[in-house]
Amino acid sequence: MLIPLILSGGSGTRLWPVSRRNMPKQFLSLTGEGTLFQQTVARTRLLPEVAAPIVVASEDHRFLAADQLLESGIEGSNIVLEPVARNTAPAIALGALKALERDPDALLLVLPADHLIGDTRSFTTAVQQALPAARDGWLVTFGIRPDRPETGFGYIRRAESIGENAYRVAQFVEKPDQTTAETYVSDGGYDWNSGMFLFRASRYLEELDQHAPDMLATVRAAYATGHRDLDFVRVDKEAFTKVPDNSIDYAVMEKTSRAAVIPVSCAWSDIGSWSALWLSGQHDEQGNQREGDTLAVNTRNSLLRSHDRHMIATVGVDDLIVVSTPDATLVAHRDAAQDVKKVVDQLKASG
Ligand code: GDD
Ligand code: MG
Repeated sequence: MLIPLILSGGSGTRLWPVSRRNMPKQFLSLTGEGTLFQQTVARTRLLPEVAAPIVVASEDHRFLAADQLLESGIEGSNIVLEPVARNTAPAIALGALKALERDPDALLLVLPADHLIGDTRSFTTAVQQALPAARDGWLVTFGIRPDRPETGFGYIRRAESIGENAYRVAQFVEKPDQTTAETYVSDGGYDWNSGMFLFRASRYLEELDQHAPDMLATVRAAYATGHRDLDFVRVDKEAFTKVPDNSIDYAVMEKTSRAAVIPVSCAWSDIGSWSALWLSGQHDEQGNQREGDTLAVNTRNSLLRSHDRHMIATVGVDDLIVVSTPDATLVAHRDAAQDVKKVVDQLKASG
């Protein structure tokens, strides 16, 4: 059984002031139809012989996740709730444990809830190409051709072919520094890790057992003592707090000898920041991307979004991000979009 696992626990602080603690970016309609979460759910429905997705999300977002799943036509007890965030390696382990209850041979398709995929047909084809390798016990990644030395991604070096459009991974490097990323991009033999994975749920847990046994043991304990009601598995807080914090990329993918990669070009983007959103979308002749009530005079390469009734007007500026909401307005240089997170940090610090 092919079971999608939608990772929905991120906080999306770099998309402040639209993305908030109570309403993080994956649950927002930022571009296209429906929210990013619902677009992810919709992509899974196009896969042949696919089961209903499992969602792993924060306890704080249980109603958002449940309502948006229902709106997407998915019913039943599919949501695992984390009382605290421990990053992707434990979140995927929770999803794997849940999937194994449905089917001991479950294949898990891990999908971040906050990505944009422009070409769903290529995505579907890539998942189908990944199935034989995943059945054979490989941990399959989906590789994207890099077009810039981005340091926020994992890099994958391809080795020999192991099937149709499938390769063994020679090396997996999570978030290299700038110089290393530049070397990888000019080398040409590296792909970005898209953050989507396909593997047997049981294989993932075996790998965790090998590379992070303490994590597996603590996740198992927290899952076992969790509370179940109609729609949710609520993971036990005291037990889950003991789980070490790490991503799948560092905890498993950098260490395993059984990683494979399926290269895919599906107009993929990780909507990590306002500048990433600007990069991924359509632009007018001046290179601007505008949403809501906006007026741009002699303005170039800027992102202007009014999420309230106020008009944003800009004159004689380039490379700017202006985002307004009823209670906060952001003005940032496009090159500083990563630092929007610091605003949220300061707001948190000041209570
Ligand atoms: N449930 C849950 N719990 N989900 C989580 C948690 C958690 O504790 N932490 C993160 N997530 C979700 C995020 O919402 C996102 O959808 C996904 O897991 C990946 O987490 P990110 O924090 O966005 O990871 P990243 O972007 O820094 O890096 C990953 O993605 C890159 C591509 O976008 C890595 O896999 C990189 O190697 C990859 O290149
Ligand atoms: Mg991300």
